Amino acid sequence: MLFASMLSALQDTPAQDLGRTEFFTGENGLWLPPQSSTTAHEIDFVWNFILWSSTILTVGVAIGIVYLAWKYRRRSQADRPAPVKESPVLELTWSIIPTILVLIVFFLGFRAYVSTSIPPTDAYEVAVKGQSWFWTFEYPDGTVLQNELVVPAGQPIKLVMTSQDVLHSFFVPEFRIKHDVVPNRYSFVWFNAPEEGVYQVVCTEYCGLDHSNMGAEIRVVGRDEFYTFLQTGGGDVNLPPAELGAQLYTSRNCNTCHSIDGSPGTGPSWLGIWGEPRPGSESGVVDDNYVRQSIVNPNAYIVEGYPGAMPAYDFLSDTEIRGLTAYMRQINGAATAADTSLVPVDVAADSTAATPDVPAGAETEE
Ligand code: CUA
Repeated sequence: MLFASMLSALQDTPAQDLGRTEFFTGENGLWLPPQSSTTAHEIDFVWNFILWSSTILTVGVAIGIVYLAWKYRRRSQADRPAPVKESPVLELTWSIIPTILVLIVFFLGFRAYVSTSIPPTDAYEVAVKGQSWFWTFEYPDGTVLQNELVVPAGQPIKLVMTSQDVLHSFFVPEFRIKHDVVPNRYSFVWFNAPEEGVYQVVCTEYCGLDHSNMGAEIRVVGRDEFYTFLQTGGGDVNLPPAELGAQLYTSRNCNTCHSIDGSPGTGPSWLGIWGEPRPGSESGVVDDNYVRQSIVNPNAYIVEGYPGAMPAYDFLSDTEIRGLTAYMRQINGAATAADTSLVPVDVAADSTAATPDVPAGAETEE
């Protein structure tokens, strides 16, 4: 029964698509993921050395046990123990060989540790913040991304990491980098990904409810695309406020805690709250000021029955906060004309065929 279900689970794996060799050693197979950073092969070398030397030793010891058990099996009821002799050669052999093996593992491991933990001096720095349950990446020019890191291919990248709340751990299997992210201190990892592509980041330190969803993507792009990204801040601000808010709702991870359909979450749902009374808060009702305050300083007023677990989103720009407020109004059926359009409404109505032009200067953001 159990065996049958295990077998059927095995058959559901991509083994058939990949072919036997591919399944065991291929890119998406059972074995290690592809080596997508310049230091990955060093980690794999240590791993393979330990794996195969232990396998050979284990098999050798097992064969020895079976052989000796067979050779010295009890052949008669009479008790005739043979005298035990000491063998200095044997004892030296089983002391020296393992010592050499352990020293090899130490030197290989130390070499890999040094080269993966000391970044090259020309590394580009990105600040990483882990918090329950998402990652924030901040570039030297102030560009902030959530759950997405865009970096140029072939460039050493140094990540300066810290946590806003509890222990997290930053793990990129394809780069073979993994490091704890700890509150109140910085930890560092670096990588150099020579190939363009998308690589998965996972949190690998149990950090609470949504730990298993705490992931991010590293997008390794060409140099030109990277400079374009830096110039535009990676964001698209030429959107009507409500649409911008809708994007931010997922990209800034509001959706982790706030539903938009009334279902309960870590924080209050956004459905049905616009205009609701909030006695004791600064503005008394859910309005623009209340929403702004709840984003920038969430602990100023905690809705009864909720844990007050929200981190401050004081890094959001005014445009972004207004976008989120507009989106909230839209969900609650209270959107104004300005919430859903970038241009004055009567102008938009006149130019139904053409896409409304973006007012000059709207795309420049300092
Ligand atoms: Cu963060 Cu697990």
